[in-house]
Amino acid sequence: MKACRLEKTSRTPVWLMRQAGRYMKEYREIRDAKSFLEICRDKDLATEITVTAQKKLNVDAAIIFSDILLLVEPFGLGLEYLKGDGPMIKRPIQSARDVENLPEVDPGESLSFVFQAIRQTRQTLDRAIPLLGFAGAPFTLASYMIEGGSSKDFSKTKTFMTRDEGVWRSLMKKIARATIRYLDNQIDAGAQAVQLFDSWVGCLSGEEYEKYVLPYSTLVLNGLRKGTPVVHFGTGTTGFLESFSRAGGDVISVDHRMPLDGVWKRIGPGKAIQGNLDPQILCTDIPTIRKYTQEILDSVRGRAGHIFNLGHGVLPQTPVENVIALVDMVHEMSAR
Ligand code: CP3
Repeated sequence: MKACRLEKTSRTPVWLMRQAGRYMKEYREIRDAKSFLEICRDKDLATEITVTAQKKLNVDAAIIFSDILLLVEPFGLGLEYLKGDGPMIKRPIQSARDVENLPEVDPGESLSFVFQAIRQTRQTLDRAIPLLGFAGAPFTLASYMIEGGSSKDFSKTKTFMTRDEGVWRSLMKKIARATIRYLDNQIDAGAQAVQLFDSWVGCLSGEEYEKYVLPYSTLVLNGLRKGTPVVHFGTGTTGFLESFSRAGGDVISVDHRMPLDGVWKRIGPGKAIQGNLDPQILCTDIPTIRKYTQEILDSVRGRAGHIFNLGHGVLPQTPVENVIALVDMVHEMSAR
């Protein structure tokens, strides 16, 4: 929390995107008996998974076990996770009519299990460990709603985005309004910071980002209840980092494709940064992990306002002992 506010800390705080997940035996055991959605909807299991990951890794923050795509359901599009194939949206958005028919979503009731899980996790976690809430950013969520699932080229999304600006604006505003309510509800339930995931903006040019994405991310980032730090996450943002940062957020989270000292020069001194170890490096060996970690810490030089994290999420094939070692390493190497 101090790092979010650019205050000095006794060591660099660290947590990891997707720190609870399939690479962890405790999660796989629960997952053997239940579907991913069943787990997300069960506040006791979501609490258990969130807290277990935090304790096992000794990370400095917990992120609620949930998913950005849960918000697709109250929009009435239908959501399923297929074994091996990832998420599937049953009724993807295809036309202007589909956008018009989207309801004004208030997740207060439809996603009440998320807020219950946050409340319960907050009560269960060590008091010194902050709990993060999260949501998908309008562009990343829209891409799933239009593609119907994960995508490599975002072809349908780009066609939709450029075909009719009025329809695109209407879709992005609907998602933004729902996301503001969703995150404010998470804050009310006990989330002490929130992260907005714009995982796939890297498929756009800087010009496209400014025109089709920035205004709607800004609606969310500046529209949330004040006083709770907001982390703005993106990958592939090297080409338009200034715009990405200008969209909003107290903490700018970047991937592993750019050195952190360069990031601060581009976003200015007034924001904290989060990142940026390549998640693949966690699949190598301890000396390699140590070398990369040292390089990241060196590039920051103990400056206040750095939260150590990965450039993207922990991969399912990651050896858990490497993740535990990384957290210890960051703590030990950054002690001041
Ligand atoms: O520990 C944590 O970080 C909290 C949990 C968390 C999950 N998803 C659990 C999850 C978080 C923060 C997310 C965010 C999320 N979900 C993002 C943004 C971050 C990123 O990775 O870029 C995105 C794009 C999604 C969408 C999503 N959810 C996909 C594409 C998939 C399938 C592929 C994959 O990565 O697993 C999911 C499923 C999902 N979300 C799992 C977990 C633990 C795996 C589900 C399973 O057990 O089968």
